[in-house]
Amino acid sequence: MLTNHQAKECDRMRVKRLCVRVPKHLGEHTRQKLLEHGALDIKCRILEVNGHLMIPTRPEIKKSVVAKIFSDTPCEICPHEFDMLSSGPRSLEEALAGVLSHKELSLLPRAYDLIGDIAVLEIPPELEQYSSQIGYAFLSIHKNFKTVLAKEGAISGLTRTRKYRLLAGENKTRTVHTEYGVKIAVDLAVAYFSPRLLEEHHRVASLASDGERVFDMFTGVGPFALHITKHHASDVVAVDINGAAIILLMDSIDMNQLTGRVFPVISDARDYAYACTVDFHRIIMNHPSGSEAFVDAACRVIAPGGVIHFYSFIAGNNPEAQMEKKITRLVTAAGRKVSDIPTIRKVRDSAPYEFQMVADVVID
Ligand SMILES: C[S@@+](CC[C@H](N)C(=O)[O-])C[C@H]1O[C@@H](n2cnc3c(N)ncnc32)[C@H](O)[C@@H]1O
Repeated sequence: MLTNHQAKECDRMRVKRLCVRVPKHLGEHTRQKLLEHGALDIKCRILEVNGHLMIPTRPEIKKSVVAKIFSDTPCEICPHEFDMLSSGPRSLEEALAGVLSHKELSLLPRAYDLIGDIAVLEIPPELEQYSSQIGYAFLSIHKNFKTVLAKEGAISGLTRTRKYRLLAGENKTRTVHTEYGVKIAVDLAVAYFSPRLLEEHHRVASLASDGERVFDMFTGVGPFALHITKHHASDVVAVDINGAAIILLMDSIDMNQLTGRVFPVISDARDYAYACTVDFHRIIMNHPSGSEAFVDAACRVIAPGGVIHFYSFIAGNNPEAQMEKKITRLVTAAGRKVSDIPTIRKVRDSAPYEFQMVADVVID
């Protein structure tokens, strides 16, 4: 029998939270995604109930926000009771409570990019002097990470890379990131990779089918190519102008048991398309700042009835309408005809009031 005091303590250790309920095999992916969005309640213990995991969200996060994070993934969002974890700091705020003022604590980053065992933080200029303390605090809370990096500047240049600075842990930029069971070799210093495109990689792969010839024009380290060939007996020609990205893709091909085949190519995508003697059922143009200039090349090699996944950054009102207008104009200028655009959607926020958009375009 519990004393009144003990009963109160127990009550205090149990809290009601909104949670995401997913089958066990999607648990780690869901946990990472909530953590990336700063929505995971790391103070609560994740529960397993009848082969499903119940993953708690922070109390201030609304159901609509959680639903938006998982807009591409079928999952249940429901309230449940959770045990509180007790020992050690559970958040950067807690870990740095005695070091930073209240105002500084409110500026701490809440969302991170988690890539394999590397965490990438954006340190606001006001907290620059505390950056390595923030890095060490992060490692003390998230013990499965080896390295904490800070973003230095924006993604830029032909290879779409940026500089990073070590905050804490092992001095490295290379790791292996896993998306839906697909292992991806990544080196942030030499080739583009964003974990925020996970759902888009998965979405496009889910549209592909066996026997397709696919041209991934700007493959980077090859996430689309790997997702597609993991599950489909299709051939993906994966082209990138950045040789370092293609070498990483070759490592990933060795690491995964693929059903289909990936043909990694170091080339300019236009040169490849114009030298190519076959056509493709699907073309992926995920180079949102540059793909516009390659639509003519894609139109040269898309099979009649084939699909082009066209990506672009769009700012301003009604980005869906702008996207439709843009891709229709480009395809028409290339001498082909759009027969249908079954999907136009926002992939992610790319800047304030700007989105990375995608249009799935069926070509006549
Ligand atoms: C946004 S990143 C790639 C994203 C990749 N599809 C992904 O999902 O991670 C764009 C890529 O285009 C490559 N690139 C830029 N210009 C190119 C060109 N002319 N031909 C082929 N690749 C190019 C860059 O090296 C970079 O890897």
